Amino acid sequence: MKKFQIINGPNLNLLGKREPAVYGNTSFEAYLEVLRKQYPSCEIDCYQSNVEGELINKIHEAGFSYDGIILNAGAYTHTSVALHDAIKAIESPVVEVHISNVHTREEFRHHSMISAACKGVIAGFGLKSYELALVALIN
Ligand code: DQA
Repeated sequence: MKKFQIINGPNLNLLGKREPAVYGNTSFEAYLEVLRKQYPSCEIDCYQSNVEGELINKIHEAGFSYDGIILNAGAYTHTSVALHDAIKAIESPVVEVHISNVHTREEFRHHSMISAACKGVIAGFGLKSYELALVALIN
């Protein structure tokens, strides 16, 4: 069975409540339940933290045994050299995901510090961005 690790960064614990016009009304827990049912042949583990160092620790922990990592680094996407380095340091492919289309939003969201270290980037498809990243990693 293939194993995938979803890692969600800061403020993504509030999905469903946080700026619903941008991020929707569905909690990540509810979405994950549906995703797991859609892909029963995959193990999909999920981790969320608001703390940059904890995200790095999880990337290190998952990065040598999982078939892929789906990373929504939230606002750290736009600031974190340390996350870039962590992604470069591991073996598992990482797909950067964003729920919103960051390129249609404020200018400070247009640059990602992590894209160049990732296998690919998916943004703008709502929570479905996670499924698209999963499909990309499965294939
Ligand atoms: C986000 C986009 C980021 O700019 C923002 O800071 C987030 C969420 C997204 O999923 O659309 O927290 O990564």
